[in-house]
Amino acid sequence: MAITRPHSFFIATPIFYVNDVPHIGHAYTEVAADVLSRWMRQSGIDTWFLTGTDEHGQKIMRTAMANGVSPKEWADRLVEQAWKPLLATLNLANDDFIRTTEERHESAVTKFLTLLHDKGFIYQGEYEGFYCVGCEEYKAPGDLHEGQGDYEGQKVCEIHGRPVEVLKEENYFFKMSDFQERLLELYRDQPDFIQPPSVRNEIVAFVTRGLDDLSISRSNIDWGIEVPFDNRHVTYVWFEALLNYITATGWGSDEANFQRRWPAIQLVGKDIARFHAVIWPAMLMAAGLKPPAKVFAHGWLLVGGEKMSKSKLTGIAPSAITDVFGSDAFRYYFLRAITFGSDGSFSWEDLSARYEAELANGFGNLASRVIAMIHRYRDGVVPNPSPGTSEAEDALAATVQSAVSAADEAMHALAPHEALHQIWRIVDHANGYITEQEPWVLAKDDANAERLDAVLYSVADALRALAIVLSPFMPEATQKLWHALGAEVSLGALVNQRVFEAGARGVLPVGSHLGELEPLFPRVEQEK
Ligand code: MSP
Repeated sequence: MAITRPHSFFIATPIFYVNDVPHIGHAYTEVAADVLSRWMRQSGIDTWFLTGTDEHGQKIMRTAMANGVSPKEWADRLVEQAWKPLLATLNLANDDFIRTTEERHESAVTKFLTLLHDKGFIYQGEYEGFYCVGCEEYKAPGDLHEGQGDYEGQKVCEIHGRPVEVLKEENYFFKMSDFQERLLELYRDQPDFIQPPSVRNEIVAFVTRGLDDLSISRSNIDWGIEVPFDNRHVTYVWFEALLNYITATGWGSDEANFQRRWPAIQLVGKDIARFHAVIWPAMLMAAGLKPPAKVFAHGWLLVGGEKMSKSKLTGIAPSAITDVFGSDAFRYYFLRAITFGSDGSFSWEDLSARYEAELANGFGNLASRVIAMIHRYRDGVVPNPSPGTSEAEDALAATVQSAVSAADEAMHALAPHEALHQIWRIVDHANGYITEQEPWVLAKDDANAERLDAVLYSVADALRALAIVLSPFMPEATQKLWHALGAEVSLGALVNQRVFEAGARGVLPVGSHLGELEPLFPRVEQEK
């Protein structure tokens, strides 16, 4: 199937609460967005990858108070010591990092509220309901459970397992109910607006049941962005947090940049899909702006069958994995082992098994065998394949070509697990091909010199393709391989190679001088 490559690609992660440090569930979203955006960038598409932190609201305020500092001091500390360092831990190439306490965000939020107020979409009223501070959300009675143990007799949030609080306040409301029909129309006209289908169905059913207006201000706290038409209120944290996607790209201050970037593909965990697929497009419609391009809800990383979370003390720090296995293996593992859009269980055993089998013995070993043989048998110079080429080489080249184009298609369909599955067909085929061709036997007799040339060339060229299509997933290992292939000199920088063209045959220049290959996936000493 031919795919249409878009002219521009803007992908955003949710912005993360700074009440606590990141765990691998957060890192999962970051890595997925990074890999997708690197792929698009390496397709020559005008790409923008945005991430950041969500710093206002009750949850952060309470954590700061419990730690005896102001909310801003707390947020600064967590951003500097935990959230920004995560970018390096995971080797992320984000284009921007927005904090909701930045002036550019606060001033654009103020403009947005004024606009909606002027257009008559905001009114004053009173609200009474159950509030979950963990979710920063009023909960419908149907979303609550009866508490047990310490929480006997209380209503608890089904996500956080903690009691909700009864809040009664004078609030400003956003007329979200006005947008029910237009939202349903959007879901109908653009069937892949919400993915995967399970989440789409749930949201369509939710909106079909009818929408309430949304309370968008708080008068019981002051840690937030002041409502421009009533300074006794601050903006409800979700309402302003959602706006980060447009405040970061210049809405209200840099129209040209905003037009260039918006709309975004929103990657979110399925727990927050409703905010992004209902409230957020309704807000944009009210302002006369385009809805997001797509809301893709990925699944949860589970521990013991439950969503991994810090509040339940099941969070694993990303560095606990990268310190042992490296960031490439982290990035590879989570995108390979979990179907994007489904839940997945993390285990150290599965991670080590895949590291050994797929990275060290599969890809790493293929690379080191090929580079070593070209050094040994051809003095490190890429040989000319033509006279000795046979059907076996044609078959390998055909796998490379079809796997690359299937991987490209999968990446555009936001299915990185499928892309890796396709790319591994090349690894497996190339390894099997070497076993069958036995270049070490060919090397024993000069009469086989042309066959040996063809074999060595064709696996080196397959490695060239692998380095390119795996570079968005594993930037470090592929850079080492690129260097060893001498391709930096013969073909130019790895990041400048087009991923979707990587399947072409015979691209590695004959006569290229190989370099040394640093170990790609060293044996790990595990102490757990
Ligand atoms: N601050 C809000 C988002 C505002 S966006 C305008 C928020 N923050 S969060 O830090 O709690 O979560 C951020 C993201 O991490 C969400 O997409 C959430 O689904 C994801 N994850 C949190 N725990 C997770 C797992 N155990 N597994 C996978 N993703 C998880 O919500």
